[in-house]
Amino acid sequence: MKTYKLALLGFGHVGQAFARLLMRKADQLADEYRIQPVVTAIATGSRGRAIDPNGIDLWAALNLIESGQMLDNLSAEPAPEDNIAFIQASGADVLFENTPVSYLDGQPAIDHIRAALEMGMHAVTANKGPVVYGYHTLTALAAQKGVRFLFESTVMDGAPVFGMTRETIPAANIHRIEGVLNSTTNLILTHMENGESFDEAVRYAQSIGIAETDPSGDVDGWDSAIKISALITVLMKTPFTPDKVNRDGIKEITPEKIAAAKAEGKRWKLICTAEKRADGIEAKVAPAMVGPDTPAYTIDGTTSIVTLESDVLGTLSLIEADPSPITTAYGLLADLINAVKGRSAKG
Ligand SMILES: NC(=O)c1ccc[n+]([C@@H]2O[C@H](COP(=O)([O-])OP(=O)(O)OC[C@H]3O[C@@H](n4cnc5c(N)ncnc54)[C@H](OP(=O)(O)O)[C@@H]3O)[C@@H](O)[C@H]2O)c1
Repeated sequence: MKTYKLALLGFGHVGQAFARLLMRKADQLADEYRIQPVVTAIATGSRGRAIDPNGIDLWAALNLIESGQMLDNLSAEPAPEDNIAFIQASGADVLFENTPVSYLDGQPAIDHIRAALEMGMHAVTANKGPVVYGYHTLTALAAQKGVRFLFESTVMDGAPVFGMTRETIPAANIHRIEGVLNSTTNLILTHMENGESFDEAVRYAQSIGIAETDPSGDVDGWDSAIKISALITVLMKTPFTPDKVNRDGIKEITPEKIAAAKAEGKRWKLICTAEKRADGIEAKVAPAMVGPDTPAYTIDGTTSIVTLESDVLGTLSLIEADPSPITTAYGLLADLINAVKGRSAKG
């Protein structure tokens, strides 16, 4: 049995779901993988932070957060307020970076992950920023340090879009990517098909915790743009940022447009595409009317899909039904197992 010390930077929806999953899977990790994860450090922005080299009681941490109390009560030693100092003091083998995404530059998450890799820790994240703005340098640094930088949960939550391409289709050259990658907008469009106005559908998405209070990151296409940029960066091996995506959101989709599509036997979807051409990569996020001959036509509610076209397999699609923070947490767990079990050296 090998014990791995984990540091959780960010303990919101994803960090808390990951803590619950670690406890649920503890026996299986021990029996099947001989892994014993122990969380030795947890940091939030405003709800305190704790370090305990002997392991933090995760139920106690979850209870403190749920009851609005600070995590500091669980700290066995002073926990630095500065995040880089916190990572350095954590004594961890693996950093989990789950702080909010920056669409503009990926910071401060890139600095957090760089600090962990420099210390010889593996780094795992659900945060898209470091992938889009730091994938190549962070992956090179990880390789230099003999550790892994993994990020399965950044696109399509726990669905293995990165792991599948890395592990099971080696030497495939992907030249086209198409998908419905944003759950919130697909849920809104699905509810509008059932007769709701745009505002009613947004309010429903907010009421079930899918859409944020300010839903513009989703409805204006930013989340889709950063996800297609992450897929281009990693799967097409070309750095690409959201500002280069030709981006259009769903605000112009009216009930009349939904009804007109229905009359033609079609549906509106917010489609992400990326195409590799001789003169570079063209990426687009835009609403499109799709018919039953398109895989995206069948995608309802919060479900998402990606279709990859390569020189060896034609088209290959992956569908993820009804994601949640639990599926995101599973992507982190899969990355943890892959990191410490030392699967293929590439990120
Ligand atoms: N929710 C999902 O299902 C999902 C799916 C895929 C990817 N992601 C990505 O996963 C990441 C986390 O998402 P989430 O839903 O868990 O977000 P969240 O609920 O807002 O939690 C963010 C956490 O980060 C903490 N934090 C914020 N600024 C910090 C700082 N400077 N230093 C340390 N901690 C800080 C927050 O603390 P306070 O609350 O005290 O500020 C909170 O604990 C994001 O990058 C998101 O895009 C989320």
